[in-house]
Amino acid sequence: MYSAEQQQELNKLTEALVQQGAFSNEEKVKALRRVINYHDWRYYVLSEPTLLDVDYDKLFKELKDIEAANPALITPDSPTQRVARALTDDFTQVSHLVPMLSLENSYDSDDLNDFDKKIKELAKTANVEYCVEPKFDGSSIALVYENDMLVRAATRGDGAVGEDITNNAKALASIPLSANFSKYGIQRIEIRGEVIIQRDIFEKMNAERKLKGEKEFQNPRNTASGSLRLKDPSEAAARKLEAILYHVSFAEDAEGKNLLAGKLESHYHTIEILHECGFKTPIKELCKCESVEEIQAFLTMWDEKRNTFNIDTDGMVIKVNSLALQQRLGATSHHPRWAVAYKFAAKQAQSRLLDVEFQVGRTGAVTPVAKIQPVPLAGVTISSISLHNEAFITEKDIHINDTVIVERAGEVIPYIVGVVPNLRDGSERKIDFPRHCPSCNEELVKPEEEAVWRCDNADCPAQTEERVIHYVSKDAMDIDGLGRAIVIDFMQRGYLKNVEGIYALPYDEIQTLEGWGAKSVEKLKKGIEESKNRPLWRLLNALGIRHVGVTTSKDVASHIDSIFDLPKKSLEDLTNIEGIGPKVAKSIVEFFSNEGNIHLLEALDKYGVNTKNRPEDAIAKNNKLEGKTFLFTGSLQLFGRDRAKQLVEENGGKLLSGVSANLNYLVVGEDAGSKLTKAQKIPTITVLTEDEFLAMIG
Ligand code: IVH
Repeated sequence: MYSAEQQQELNKLTEALVQQGAFSNEEKVKALRRVINYHDWRYYVLSEPTLLDVDYDKLFKELKDIEAANPALITPDSPTQRVARALTDDFTQVSHLVPMLSLENSYDSDDLNDFDKKIKELAKTANVEYCVEPKFDGSSIALVYENDMLVRAATRGDGAVGEDITNNAKALASIPLSANFSKYGIQRIEIRGEVIIQRDIFEKMNAERKLKGEKEFQNPRNTASGSLRLKDPSEAAARKLEAILYHVSFAEDAEGKNLLAGKLESHYHTIEILHECGFKTPIKELCKCESVEEIQAFLTMWDEKRNTFNIDTDGMVIKVNSLALQQRLGATSHHPRWAVAYKFAAKQAQSRLLDVEFQVGRTGAVTPVAKIQPVPLAGVTISSISLHNEAFITEKDIHINDTVIVERAGEVIPYIVGVVPNLRDGSERKIDFPRHCPSCNEELVKPEEEAVWRCDNADCPAQTEERVIHYVSKDAMDIDGLGRAIVIDFMQRGYLKNVEGIYALPYDEIQTLEGWGAKSVEKLKKGIEESKNRPLWRLLNALGIRHVGVTTSKDVASHIDSIFDLPKKSLEDLTNIEGIGPKVAKSIVEFFSNEGNIHLLEALDKYGVNTKNRPEDAIAKNNKLEGKTFLFTGSLQLFGRDRAKQLVEENGGKLLSGVSANLNYLVVGEDAGSKLTKAQKIPTITVLTEDEFLAMIG
């Protein structure tokens, strides 16, 4: 829109105006308008303001004052003309230059392949370029410019006839009152777009309304469409609406020639022109794709990104890029044949809670698990969901036979958002939390301050099973060929009774089992042998001590010579290790004061499992992130919290616990909430995706 030189010139002009340079009234009005338009563009289109609000207000007031004293100097595209004083009585009905059609929907790669195939058949070509961009969830608008001036803005209405909302549209600073379309030979143009409210602004607006005791708005879309129909444009202006323009539906030159069938080549080209003319467009979010595979890859990327995008989207739009081809393909009475909307897989579904099972974990924690009527959600079928603890069930008032709302975002573990009380039919039953271990019948205990009921029987079969499964797992001893299912099978057959039993398996018998042979037994043996040579931190993690994960295991392992040093460590010794707090220290002390655990370690040592901190196992550190501070928020898809922390520390960075001016990087997973909103208001914080963070550390 503004070249680097123009920006430089306008910045200088701004300075001259702020400093009260010498201008005639006429010169000054012109200069003020140029400068105000430029800063509106920086603020509303680029979101990169460079002028202080007080200086902006000062310049604006000056323009208004000069115009008031010299009405002859007022032009219809002066920024002072944005907010009309008069209230609108009724919005007049206006016919769109071209009917505003809707889009056909698609939901998966089959639909996209069908769309692509149909286009190629109709176009009789094998090469079609597409543009893929977000589908903005706001209120549609159509703008008409004639001879570079905004002459009309209308809502969608029934698609053929909409409401004239020109006065309210003019109040939106992201809509230029005049634009240099003549540079492109365009005399009359109709542009389509969406009026939206950015999410953080919406949240702020609602917070303010709440403070004032006013009714909060429901969502950004309804607020945008309601605001466009406000009778008082000054009130509409106060709502901080923005227009994003994504489609040119009509463009003709002074001779009345249709430029969409001639001079303007592609959708991308029209978006570039709109961008150049100072409109807010999806130019940065748009991707050109040449195959369904490319489209799919871009959609997948967006599915992850859209939660952190500051504008609500309800899918993506795939458009044929060539305007000539668009014209040839045409439209049905409902939708164009050259575009399709893509809806992301639902992240929420309803299902019925059939039963609740109580599972005993490796530390004895008893977790209620809901068995639900299987329901497809975000690419998988869900039939089992954790209910966490008794308090969760009470708080959400969950009953057996209730209709539950299940949510799952990306790879995240599904969870129950709540129940639908309206759908209850009287068949619901209370969930009775057991007071005895479902595996060994030991009485369960729950310290006052904890949420979880626990079985304290060290020989509880369910706990032993989970301990063995944890011991062999990837982040622990990483035993190749010995997964959950095999552990359970071996335990049921009596081949394996406890952790040390892993090193005394009856291989001869296993070899005779169905599905096993000499080769697979050899592989299993090899995996188990290799586990004897793991670094000390893995053994420490494999023991399944409460609150001790990979990071803590590494912290502790680097401060001891042998696992047998730990029974001698006091609470104080342990809390002196960086990264170890009192809760973790207490848990370690408890573990090593238990005789059974010491026997286990002695047995492992006898089998030849490494119990020493060897020099070759030292954890490599580098300083890629030295002096940088990080915070993680949202649900991380690529690594867990522990791993994230470890990665930052291994690379010399520091973790912070909250958003503040000291924070350099906020790494966002899915569904990031207030931390992201807060960080976006601090310009020195860089927001990173998980991928970007990984790229930083190579
Ligand atoms: S193109 C001829 N692109 O979605 C159709 N529409 O469900 C031209 N929408 O009526 C529309 N974002 O209000 C297009 N990037 C985008 C869009 C978009 C949102 C809306 C638009 C349209 C509706 C169809």
